[in-house]
Amino acid sequence: MVPVVRVVREGRVQGRRAGRVDPVKVAPSILSADFSRLGDDVARVEGEADLLHVDVMDGHFVPNLTIGPPVVASLRPRTDLFLDCHLMVDNPGILLDDFAKAGADRCIVHVELGDPRPLFERMRDLGMGVGLVLNPPTPVDAVLPYLDEIELLLVMSVNPGWGGQAFIPEVLDKVRLARAEIDARALPVEIEIDGGIKVDTAALAAEAGCDILVAGSAVFHADDPAAATRAIRRAAWPDG
Ligand code: DX5
Ligand code: ZN
Repeated sequence: MVPVVRVVREGRVQGRRAGRVDPVKVAPSILSADFSRLGDDVARVEGEADLLHVDVMDGHFVPNLTIGPPVVASLRPRTDLFLDCHLMVDNPGILLDDFAKAGADRCIVHVELGDPRPLFERMRDLGMGVGLVLNPPTPVDAVLPYLDEIELLLVMSVNPGWGGQAFIPEVLDKVRLARAEIDARALPVEIEIDGGIKVDTAALAAEAGCDILVAGSAVFHADDPAAATRAIRRAAWPDG
């Protein structure tokens, strides 16, 4: 992944952090797609999305149960989009080999599970990118020791489990703190936010310092998912 060079200046431009040099990216979450025609739904955002967010839930770490490596393997030949797998599971370690074989580009693991370093090592050995995620109640301090070992920090803006929940604005303070730390140390880490992202919250997230916005229901419940993806990016990056 290409390190992002940032120049942080005072002040804000509407829906955009002043000094930002690269467009905000949008990652549609297939959790809100129609699973009976998943390949077609993904094709509808293919030209507009920057990457694809795959929500994996095991019915234990979160109460909901969704999809796993076989679905990633089915999608892989249908899309060139980067497949980013958000693992909301109790034991991600037993799944990493299967996700790599299925064609996942990166896995994102929860810091709430304890020391993520053995998982990072396995992901790297398997040739996948490394992401770390924290839930709304988890303090940002929990992820700071790992910032120089990851490419992606995902900040949950809903409690994980379902699409279509309301954005929790208090998590933006964590985004600002992480942004300041990443910029101060010039680390090549992107900040992503997940949950309740729509046109209005997209602008808030971008202003706080997010690089990637996950959007599920706002994209796949729209009549035109590509236009919805574009509208979210424009809200976050008006010149894009
Ligand atoms: C929630 C998932 C999200 C979800 C977001 O547990 O991690 O990725 O798909 O859905 P929306 O955008 O509808 O809040
Ligand atoms: Zn997610």
